[in-house]
Amino acid sequence: MRLDRFLSNLPRFNRQDARRLLAGGSVRLDGQISRDGRSEVSVFSRVELDGGEVLQAGKAACYFMLHKPPGVVSATVHPEHRTVLDLLDEPDKHDLHLAGRLDLSTSGLLLITNDGQWSRRVTLPKSKQPKVYLVDTADPIDPICVEAFARGLYFQYEDLVTQPAVLDILAPRQARLTLYEGRYHQVKRMFGHFRNRVVGLHRLSMGAVRLDPLLAPGHYRALTATEVASFAAD
Ligand code: URA
Repeated sequence: MRLDRFLSNLPRFNRQDARRLLAGGSVRLDGQISRDGRSEVSVFSRVELDGGEVLQAGKAACYFMLHKPPGVVSATVHPEHRTVLDLLDEPDKHDLHLAGRLDLSTSGLLLITNDGQWSRRVTLPKSKQPKVYLVDTADPIDPICVEAFARGLYFQYEDLVTQPAVLDILAPRQARLTLYEGRYHQVKRMFGHFRNRVVGLHRLSMGAVRLDPLLAPGHYRALTATEVASFAAD
């Protein structure tokens, strides 16, 4: 949406106030003073008024955890599959977006919000938030994976070495894996490197937020203030 519209949508301002604030240089868009009401505000934009942060579209911020079941797509709209937003019974749910994604077949913790600054803190690679997965594999897990994952694996497509990851082997075909980044199909590709297929993948936590054991697959709840604050700005 346009910046002037964004400002005049805030409960305390009308269109004239928005024009005055912009002309007076009181508005920063992504750190830069912006006087142009036509500038585009996206869910990831940071809009500040005289140094104070303003939330997206002036609506109350909301934060949810969902227990994503397999077979539901991590998107807000999809032509074929049910989306995770279809599982939410919330007004204004089309203002929501996902703070990180899971593959169609993956289950577990998904964070959903309307606060673009917050979701950026959750997902930005440099924030290095740990993400913990429970992994079931087709074949027994070779113990050499522990050291290899800790050292990092070369991903040819991106031409990079993965960040050190922590693998705890829990059973011959089951492990807990902690990643500090989120590359495309990362867990499956890491096990694929050792020709072992992931047959079950479930996200247990992101940062300090753990999937609530009381949430059945397909159910969700609001995050507590402590959970929201655990992804605090530096
Ligand atoms: N890694 C994967 O391969 N899939 C996911 O859904 C998440 C991490």
